[in-house]
Amino acid sequence: RLLIIDFGSQVTQLIARRLRELSVYCEIHPYQNVTAEWLHDFAPKAVILSGGPDSVTREGSPRAPQAVFDMGVPVLGICYGQQTMMTQLGGKVVRGEGTAEFGRAYVKPEGKLTLLDGWFATDKEQVWMSHGDHVSEIAPGFAVYGTSPNAPFAITADVARNFYAVQFHPEVHHTPNGAKLYENFVRLAGFKGDWTMGAYREQAIAAIREQVGDAHVICALSGGVDSSVAAALIHEAVGDQLTCVFVDHGLLRLNEAEEVVGMFRDHMNLHVIHAQEQDLFLGELEGVSDPENKRKIIGKLFIDVFQKYANGIEGAAFLAQGTLYPDVIESVSFSGGPSVTIKSHHNVGGLPEKMGLKLVEPLRELFKDEVRALGRELGLPASFIGRHPFPGPGLAIRCPGEITREKLEILRKADAVYIDQIRKHGLYDDIWQAFVAILPVRTVGVMGDGRTYDFACALRAVTSVDGMTADYYPFSHEFLGETATRIINEVPGINRVTYDITSKPPGTIEWE
Ligand code: XMP
Repeated sequence: RLLIIDFGSQVTQLIARRLRELSVYCEIHPYQNVTAEWLHDFAPKAVILSGGPDSVTREGSPRAPQAVFDMGVPVLGICYGQQTMMTQLGGKVVRGEGTAEFGRAYVKPEGKLTLLDGWFATDKEQVWMSHGDHVSEIAPGFAVYGTSPNAPFAITADVARNFYAVQFHPEVHHTPNGAKLYENFVRLAGFKGDWTMGAYREQAIAAIREQVGDAHVICALSGGVDSSVAAALIHEAVGDQLTCVFVDHGLLRLNEAEEVVGMFRDHMNLHVIHAQEQDLFLGELEGVSDPENKRKIIGKLFIDVFQKYANGIEGAAFLAQGTLYPDVIESVSFSGGPSVTIKSHHNVGGLPEKMGLKLVEPLRELFKDEVRALGRELGLPASFIGRHPFPGPGLAIRCPGEITREKLEILRKADAVYIDQIRKHGLYDDIWQAFVAILPVRTVGVMGDGRTYDFACALRAVTSVDGMTADYYPFSHEFLGETATRIINEVPGINRVTYDITSKPPGTIEWE
């Protein structure tokens, strides 16, 4: 296994991701925890020193334990890792005045280095820099293999000892060939690349067992991919010690509650409480049309309801959450050390403290696509894993203005037809999210020989990478025409269909 010593860079986890992509098992440990003795027991086959926010020129700044360099294993230092490596091995780093580099830079090669095999197809490589300080004198035994305008020692190595040090961040997307560098490094270190998601699953299960012991875990199951995979994994680890609460607020899609509860209860044998609280939610929402008020009411009731059910579960000591790495990284403080603060999950924020629960977050190290892979590994059906995101407040924010049971009923039917169309045309997986919004507008139409005065609806479908920005999906006219006809024919209460072609920004994905 490979050890990543974390000096607090915001992208340390990306190093782990690059290594997982290479099927290499690694663990990230904060530098404070890595002592010489610990290292000896851990016995890494290679070590990577991450970047970090501190300056090695500062008295008392973090260092790698010297033992890292005495174990005879390959070491790769990145950014801060490079600088502490140079300092510890006898080189010099100076505070950058006028030599800082942030963002894109180009490295020019010097000589030949196995670590760089596959690099420098041209005379320079694009890399991503983010440093104030820089190395001014390399350590004895090192040679220079690449320079950039503001980093004369952008790539250095002591080939005899298998020590490598780079000033830039090969793990980020903006170092387009960075993955190659990691590939070369793990190959140099003798990794075979035979580690799999199946192995991850086994490790995660062991870690959950150790954390939870014989206590009870509760989980707010939403039917979304993250909470579903977290629940399935924890169930595999601790079986009946897990109880899931599925809160049905009456704002779910057609057959959603039955499908989610059915799958987890019957198919996967999980203990699921189906909290039927439709009347409570819809009652409180009656007459409310302001979007923020709606969200606040739903958010508060959700917590109340979850707490009510959770209080009834004896011995509950842990709350399971499907927090992913991007949720964690969002909350990393810019100036702080390696430790990160946890961002509370949207729907159950504040619950752990209020209820005195500890968190179990088995997906904290993973990215969305890795969670999907883990879900497949756990036997969740492919159709479930590929589901579009669905917001916590559900259909409430797809029903601008006042929510009524009548509107919800119409909306559910129209949405089901729309999604059916998308699936039939094989477009579901090309789209980030698609849904119908029912508009608070009635318009005039003719059906048969009679006049109609029914609701208008809007179809929404967007492509996106992260939900932060989005573009409308370019359906064919034929598809739109066919879908509009089907909705009008099959859904009583709608006589007009429009297509929303707004991108985000300016329009959000949801209507409210
Ligand atoms: P917007 O509407 O802000 O949505 O463009 C971006 C993404 O977030 C989802 N979304 C939510 N998810 N609780 C959630 O769990 C919410 O309150 C919420 N609001 C929006 C939305 O569906 C889209 O994927």
